[in-house]
Amino acid sequence: MSYSIAIDGPAGAGKSTIAKIVSKQLGYTYIDTGAMYRAMAVYFDEKGVNPDDENEINEHVDEVDIELKHIDGLQHVFLNSADVTDKLRLEQTGKMASKTSKYGAVRSKLVELQRKIAKSCDVIMDGRDIGTVVLPDAFLKIYLTASVDTRAKRRFDELKEKGQDCDLDLIKKDIADRDYADMHREISPLKQADDAVLLDTSDMDIDAVVGAIIKLIEEKKN
Ligand code: DC
Repeated sequence: MSYSIAIDGPAGAGKSTIAKIVSKQLGYTYIDTGAMYRAMAVYFDEKGVNPDDENEINEHVDEVDIELKHIDGLQHVFLNSADVTDKLRLEQTGKMASKTSKYGAVRSKLVELQRKIAKSCDVIMDGRDIGTVVLPDAFLKIYLTASVDTRAKRRFDELKEKGQDCDLDLIKKDIADRDYADMHREISPLKQADDAVLLDTSDMDIDAVVGAIIKLIEEKKN
């Protein structure tokens, strides 16, 4: 039997940072499902598809083949055999992913792929609908969140450290807008699964969050 751990939550809650560390400690495969929506978005951007036109999106979905490979412990995403990992975090890609991840055709294609991967190995998968839709029978479900202020401050510090100019109020607004879009879309909106454990990390550092999750997994296994 393969174990699956679902981590859902809003943008900027630290899901991927935490999931990467926990998966390394446990020897699980980390699957960043946001990266799959982003890879689809790269394709739509390259094709010049209008993200507001669902019919146009539907016409192109079947042209997309996405594969995940782990190289030196890092997830790489291949779009029609090309490694697009470097393009995934671009602002433009994030915007396109946010707009196109609400469509049924996009979601069902990626959910199918996510379920297939989870069957083949022990995974920690993070996203918005993992505990509610993708893996409703996951061994453990975590809903990881933090206040808008905390998430905005973390992002602000991250950008400052990279030497980028940024405005805290704008970051806050962007985070609040993304939360609203993720939580209010028609298909698979972001919400805590009934059987998920809520972890609010506003006052926790990374080590504390990792420790809490490892403890939950160990308790469940024993
Ligand atoms: O977590 P992220 O920022 O990389 O996600 C990119 C976009 O994809 C974001 O707008 C939310 C969406 N997404 C989703 O709808 N379902 C998932 N399981 C993962 C991400």
